[in-house]
Amino acid sequence: MACPFSHNASVELNPAILSLEWLLGAWESDRPGEGTFPSIKPFHYTEKLHFSHVGQPVINFMFNAFHAESNKPMHRECGFIRMQQGTNRVAFIIAQNSGLVEIEEGELTGQQLNLQTHKLDRISFAKEPHVKQICRVFKLLPDGRLEQTVSMATDNQPLTQHLHITYHRSS
Ligand code: HEM
Repeated sequence: MACPFSHNASVELNPAILSLEWLLGAWESDRPGEGTFPSIKPFHYTEKLHFSHVGQPVINFMFNAFHAESNKPMHRECGFIRMQQGTNRVAFIIAQNSGLVEIEEGELTGQQLNLQTHKLDRISFAKEPHVKQICRVFKLLPDGRLEQTVSMATDNQPLTQHLHITYHRSS
């Protein structure tokens, strides 16, 4: 089913986000991603990403993760990506289904995005331990796949890798 929020193909990409064109479209994990953290049991998951635009200087995104065996919906994020005009500075404005809201900022170098938490907040009854910081890397690999690596720090753990996954284009 076509995404109801995706852009009409006739809408031109805003020049402000031209350098992020390589992200646009739908991506699906090519093999289960690896979830780790010192305080949890390692796990596998699958994930679908969708990056679209409507002609604004903004990319809209949705990330939906699923249990690798049961396909049950798990972690979900959605938000917007903006670039500071005339620079390689990037901001991700993110809402997560766990009750976390976050701004990650960083830099675009070639076809790699290095991001880290700029601001973070959560609902008053968010599950503990609380996340304190997130670092994230998106990288377009030479074979055309996309890679995402996420590290986080919590109340109890210093910055440690939580997720690693690769995706192939599904549209
Ligand atoms: C930036 C995104 C994410 C953040 C900030 C995040 C945060 C966390 C935190 C704080 C924990 C608890 C760690 C502890 O108990 O010490 C956790 C556990 C876990 N996360 Fe993530 N997570 C993210 C993405 C994901 C994704 C994409 C999946 C894929 C399914 C996932 C699956 C899990 C699982 C299975 C656990 C262990 C069980 C649980 O506590 O629910 N997480 N995550």
